[in-house]
Amino acid sequence: MITVIKLHDKYFKPFISAKEIDDVLQRLAIEIAEDVGDEIPVFVGILNGSFMVVSDFVKKYPKPCEVTFIKLASYEGVKSTEDIQRLIGLTQDLTGRTVVILEDIIDTGNTLAEVHRIFKNEKVKSLKIATLFYKPEAYKKDFKLHYVGIEIPNKFIVGYGLDYDGLGRNLPEIYQIKETQHMTNLVLFGPPGAGKGTQADFLKEKYNLVHISTGDVFRYNIKNETALGMLAKSYMDKGELVPDQVTIDMLNAEVEKNAGANGFIFDGFPRTNAQADALDKLLDSKDSQINAMIALEVEDEVLVERLLSRGKTSGRADDADESIIRNRIAEYYNKTAILKEFYSAQNKYFGVNGIGSIEDITVRLSTVIDTL
Ligand code: IMP
Ligand code: MG
Repeated sequence: MITVIKLHDKYFKPFISAKEIDDVLQRLAIEIAEDVGDEIPVFVGILNGSFMVVSDFVKKYPKPCEVTFIKLASYEGVKSTEDIQRLIGLTQDLTGRTVVILEDIIDTGNTLAEVHRIFKNEKVKSLKIATLFYKPEAYKKDFKLHYVGIEIPNKFIVGYGLDYDGLGRNLPEIYQIKETQHMTNLVLFGPPGAGKGTQADFLKEKYNLVHISTGDVFRYNIKNETALGMLAKSYMDKGELVPDQVTIDMLNAEVEKNAGANGFIFDGFPRTNAQADALDKLLDSKDSQINAMIALEVEDEVLVERLLSRGKTSGRADDADESIIRNRIAEYYNKTAILKEFYSAQNKYFGVNGIGSIEDITVRLSTVIDTL
């Protein structure tokens, strides 16, 4: 499951786990200890960002060492500011010492240039650069980086000492910025007669969501003879189930057509765990996720009544016969029980009382959505 976090106005998704960071620091500690040999090195952290790296690193360092910090703040918001602030706080005499700079992250290399400027006049024995994270695509200098933990893409990250405008330093793992805006994606469920269609129409207006009804998507693709539509039809003509991948590809096309949407209401999909997994993957590839499965709950007797009276006016054959109606309701519960479990396990299942006026039910649904 993907837990997106919000810091100020931006959303971030999990990127590098605490365990992975720990393993990398362990490897760096051993590597550096071997290279340093019998010297007692001075590890120099660059504040603020490197406080966590330094703390965890030196605990793993297997031999005696010294630790000190210098301070520089070069970052405001998500872009490296051009005018680098100067380093302060180097009070110790480092003449003849083996110095290892411990950085949380090397981005443009501006900070590193400042480090080199500061150390130019110190008569250190050797100056080595170690960094937990390195963004090769952003790096514009040619100072050698002696020890690199993890190379990462040129995207803004937070956590493990790194901040976005002051927030996020305390997170034990790394989160990466989400480049697509935050979406609200709902899976809407309800037995036949629950008023799903009516409510979906309200919700899409109110929250500016795109309603994707799998049935409509199928009909559209088949009618317009799209490649996917023809593929789906070839299975249907043989009386076979359309493979999930074909359906997912159609949904993907719908999601991409509406890339700027605030989110989607999925209706008629997923129906199985495998489909729910596939939908998660699809949304994950868009830096997004399902936020909630909302199910309209209506007692069977009320549904039967509603459908029978609809049948009188609509002329829909499957709304005219009570035993057919009861079968459809039973089938709905059989099929969706598994999904109720799937989303409950992620705390994403919300049952909403579907009895009452249309407006009352809309208010109930909105209450759920507003908490997401
Ligand atoms: P550089 O001077 O461009 O190499 O950037 C170094 C400093 O910028 C780091 O010490 C961080 O404080 C900050 N920084 C660079 N990239 C990121 C990031 O992705 N998230 C948070 N801070 C960053
Ligand atoms: Mg830093």
